[in-house]
Amino acid sequence: MSIVYLNGEFLPKDEAKISPDDRGFLLADGLYEVTPFYEGVAFCLDRHLARLEHGLRWARIRQSLDALADVQRRLIAENGLEGAETSLTYVQITRGVAPRTHYFPTEPVEPTVYAYAKAWDRPSPERWSQGFTAATVPDRRWSRVDIKTIGLLPNVMAFQDALDAGADDALLVRDGVAIEGAHMNFWGVIDGVLVTHPTTGHILPGITRGVILELAAEHGIPVEQRPIQVEELGGAEELFFTGTTGEVRPCVQVDGASVGDGSVGVMTRRLSDLFRAEVEAAKQAAEVPVA
Ligand code: PDD
Repeated sequence: MSIVYLNGEFLPKDEAKISPDDRGFLLADGLYEVTPFYEGVAFCLDRHLARLEHGLRWARIRQSLDALADVQRRLIAENGLEGAETSLTYVQITRGVAPRTHYFPTEPVEPTVYAYAKAWDRPSPERWSQGFTAATVPDRRWSRVDIKTIGLLPNVMAFQDALDAGADDALLVRDGVAIEGAHMNFWGVIDGVLVTHPTTGHILPGITRGVILELAAEHGIPVEQRPIQVEELGGAEELFFTGTTGEVRPCVQVDGASVGDGSVGVMTRRLSDLFRAEVEAAKQAAEVPVA
């Protein structure tokens, strides 16, 4: 039985009870964050917390995040995940429990804070090397997807449509632009330049995306942040996704058409290697004893 965190307490998951009047349940009135851990070491924890803080401020949900770093580390420990190669924490904060209204509760309520930890599996090197397929699906999300709301119905519908079409991943398209995946950012290598959508209200500013941009800058890889038109996909040398559980995930086919020569490209491999080295460095840094 996994140990979860709910409103200040660590307890077995089946003892965690949330009211049916929780505004997260009734209205998707809440935010979430997913943070990767590698052998028990958090990767970019501060950035994930800062994104959550940004979302809370936007949604005007008042909740201190001071305890959350420790809560997440303790969840990893309590669930025996310190040795897991790849694990994650999920944190969800809703506006709290109150009679259903389309406006904020009139009486002050405490937000609901729920968190759990679990292991996740990265694809085997053999599977990764084959690359993954994507199907384009309409992006029916709202215009503030930079806010990591728990209201993910359009993402769920999009991903399921892609799976039903026989693809591994969904590629969301809005007004002729390949925006991002259902839970990952999207990249192309076009005319030798690494291209990804700029941070507008139409993408989530992925933490992995940010790390890749920094690595590209550090290694002199030319980058352009601009919308990628669907018509450009056919001529792209490489395509890939990035995200917490996808890391760098090669996309070798879109709607049945091969990307480049249909194999994982050199830039995708290079960035994946650089990303993995960054993760290793974070692990090593965490092991250095404090003087
Ligand atoms: N998804 N775009 C969307 C729509 C996402 O939901 C996510 C993350 C990303 C990548 O962001 P990051 O690199 O910070 O993980 C991009 C999380 C992991 C999820 O919903 O499970």
